[in-house]
Amino acid sequence: MDTDRMFTDIKQIFYNIDIGSKTSVIVKGDSIDLLKSVPNHSVALILTDPPYHSTKKKNIVGDTSFSNDTDFIKWLSRYAVEWKRVLKHNGSVFCFCSTAMSAQLQMMFCEYFNILSEITWTKPNAPGYDGWKQKMKKENLRQWYPHSEKILFMENAESGNLFNSYFGSQLSVWRKSVNMSTIKLAELTGAYGRVNHGGAVANWEAGRNIPNREQYRKIKSVLTEAGVMGIPDYEDIIRPFNVNKDVEFTDVWTFENVRQYKGKHPAEKPVELLKHAISATTYEGDIVLDCFAGSGSTGVASFELGRKSILFEIENKWCNYASDKIHGIEYFDLNKARES
Ligand SMILES: C[S@@+](CC[C@H](N)C(=O)[O-])C[C@H]1O[C@@H](n2cnc3c(N)ncnc32)[C@H](O)[C@@H]1O
Repeated sequence: MDTDRMFTDIKQIFYNIDIGSKTSVIVKGDSIDLLKSVPNHSVALILTDPPYHSTKKKNIVGDTSFSNDTDFIKWLSRYAVEWKRVLKHNGSVFCFCSTAMSAQLQMMFCEYFNILSEITWTKPNAPGYDGWKQKMKKENLRQWYPHSEKILFMENAESGNLFNSYFGSQLSVWRKSVNMSTIKLAELTGAYGRVNHGGAVANWEAGRNIPNREQYRKIKSVLTEAGVMGIPDYEDIIRPFNVNKDVEFTDVWTFENVRQYKGKHPAEKPVELLKHAISATTYEGDIVLDCFAGSGSTGVASFELGRKSILFEIENKWCNYASDKIHGIEYFDLNKARES
């Protein structure tokens, strides 16, 4: 997919109301309505932080709107439908939530996505910067003090089954359309399994693992030669996932919370954490969507990594704040580029 063209098209859709920058579209409004204008399968990553509902913060729109959990889950299920539609087939979703709501959200989300990880974000903040942890009376606790938040990590599900990837199902369709066995494809691409001859291809089709770029190049060339038309580029079918020993590769993430400052968003997320999420799960130039943008931290993280972002936010105040912040770094970066 030509992501530059897609992003230009999306900017055009929101032309009248967008206050964005070159790399970000920031649109004020109810994101469930705004989402309807986002084209099908155009977004590589949905990285979003809805109101938690369980935290009941009066200064966050939506946090106290639902009288019970069921209404909150129903509300977010309308998003799940739209997210599935706008997400690329090889796209990913990160959705922040509280520990209290995680299980119920997973039950709802698993109808639409493969839930791959429930990440625990823990905050090693110094005393005085860690919310109520030091101040509250420990003897009054009725459960373990909630010192972490959850981030659900999901991929676009092919048929609702864990491990059933879009690439795997497409590979099977292409191969069968030209009557090629898994063994033959393995032979032609040199992708032999360790145990059985067609093993690597069978594993790819079952979604147990993915081919590397060189293997994919061979698959594409062999199947195209056999008559399969329109096999997409690697970036449009293989879900990116890049971690290594030097970054946080477990499902426990340790990032300091954003310290209090004048004008801080009450739920502002640390840019470093968001950059970690984005760099592991997108290709350069990809489009990232945040339906609950708040202070625009997803836009900042995306920009710093060379990704584009679409940010929806219902409050005027936060739209302006996000716009100023993103414009600020974008111009700063441009100046830097001119100097060098
Ligand atoms: C948890 S905060 C997100 C904070 C953000 N991650 C940050 O780092 O600043 C949720 C945000 O969603 C916004 N919001 C709530 N309901 C919304 C809706 N229906 N459409 C768009 N934005 C909404 C709120 O105004 C709030 O700023």
